Amino acid sequence: ALYAKVDVDTCIGCGNCEAIAPDIFDLDEEGLAFVKLDDNQGVTPIPEDQVEGLKEAADECPTSSIVLEEHPLKD
Ligand code: F3S
Repeated sequence: ALYAKVDVDTCIGCGNCEAIAPDIFDLDEEGLAFVKLDDNQGVTPIPEDQVEGLKEAADECPTSSIVLEEHPLKD
């Protein structure tokens, strides 16, 4: 399984991820992206049917702020 979170220290709020994978990403009140599934904790496996969109969004992030790992992420 894949786990994902947005690095809010480098996200510039470009919105590509939300445009590509709106099931996974949203923008917060500061305009920065987060993973909706677990409020950007990176501890909940991304559903299989959303993995393709997740990978594309990660590829298309201009600041490479989408962190993907095969294990749960921690701060
Ligand atoms: Fe931020 Fe990258 Fe999405 S800059 S808004 S995580 S595409």
